[in-house]
Amino acid sequence: MKTVVLVYSGGLDTSVCIPMMKEFYGYERVVTVTVDVGQPKEDIEQAEAKARILGTEHYTVDAKEEFARDFCFAAIRANGDYQGYPISTSIARPLIGQKAAEIAQKLGAKDFAHGCTGKGNDQFRIEFAIRALIPDAVIHAPVRERNMTRSWEIEYAQKNNIPIQASLNKIWSIDENLWGRSIEGGRLEEPDYAPPAEIFKWTAEATEAPATPKEIEIQFRNGVPVALDGKALNPAALIQAANQLAGETGVGRVDIMEDRMLGLKVRENYECPGAVLLLKAHAGLEALVMTKDELRFKKLIDQEWSNLAYQGLWWDPLKDDLEAFIGATQRRVEGTVKLRLYKGSMQIIGRSSPWALYSEELASFDSTSFDQRDSTGTVKNFGLQARMYMKVQEKLKAQR
Ligand code: ARG
Repeated sequence: MKTVVLVYSGGLDTSVCIPMMKEFYGYERVVTVTVDVGQPKEDIEQAEAKARILGTEHYTVDAKEEFARDFCFAAIRANGDYQGYPISTSIARPLIGQKAAEIAQKLGAKDFAHGCTGKGNDQFRIEFAIRALIPDAVIHAPVRERNMTRSWEIEYAQKNNIPIQASLNKIWSIDENLWGRSIEGGRLEEPDYAPPAEIFKWTAEATEAPATPKEIEIQFRNGVPVALDGKALNPAALIQAANQLAGETGVGRVDIMEDRMLGLKVRENYECPGAVLLLKAHAGLEALVMTKDELRFKKLIDQEWSNLAYQGLWWDPLKDDLEAFIGATQRRVEGTVKLRLYKGSMQIIGRSSPWALYSEELASFDSTSFDQRDSTGTVKNFGLQARMYMKVQEKLKAQR
């Protein structure tokens, strides 16, 4: 039987793809795959229910732990950030594509479909992931290929008895996983429209956050968080706890203009409380244990890594190369960071590590082990080239 594996969320775009695969693409068997990367349980259940109604062979893959450990934690080590956005949607896509590819391999299929539009980044990420693992995959993108509009989709859904009530009631387009929640659509597309309170689900309004500051401690090992307030947690549970902690204090809202891969500038709103908190703590610890040159250079590496991750180039060799450097630096990123969260703001108030490059003995005003007199010659020669330039300039002026 001609089989196609549809990357399925249960939303309108992917649901209309189900009958389309038979009607327009000539497949006899449609297999739907929903990958659980921490989206709401109702979404997963809704996808399962719709798949049942529409008669597909359905698989739900629980990839939460893998997503947390191999994707979110990789992003922490690399201080993953694109234009102020902790790349939460971006890093889930490769894993979703990978899981769909794995199911296809088990079923002996190499035909795929997804519901991504032709404007966004997800088409790149998902198709790259599938092709990286199955080079001769055939991938259909009906929404893009047929230039589909929402009103066409609604009409087609109604004709084909696809339940769409939930989709019709939705004003916002929301994508959610452990690492964050992104909200688009409706009037939010206008760069000048202030986000209404109702779009936020994970973060409190700063003005309504608790009146007393909250202090927390995060323990790191090997560049990744291992415990919150002394309590050891698995990656997924730790991220969930961080989301809760930071979210209720109003930390983690991001409102940016984002440059998509195709060059489109779009307004994006995100809630990434856990990510924002863990990234801040991680960077704070790096500042204690790494040299100034390592820190400066790693910024460049992190930026390159983030760019690749944003694009979904998860299996790019450059990413492996960058991670070799990142990995070497992260061995010393071990210790504890203390933070104070208060009404939407967050400060590091302490850090400690067995690998700290800080020495109280050297830095203190009272210390005698750093002999100040040794600095005299260094200071004298400081800025030598700039001083020579001043002289040259005088000569230049005299000539004109
Ligand atoms: N701009 C985000 C990115 O490319 C994706 C946002 C997806 N959001 C959504 N509501 N579908 O990573």
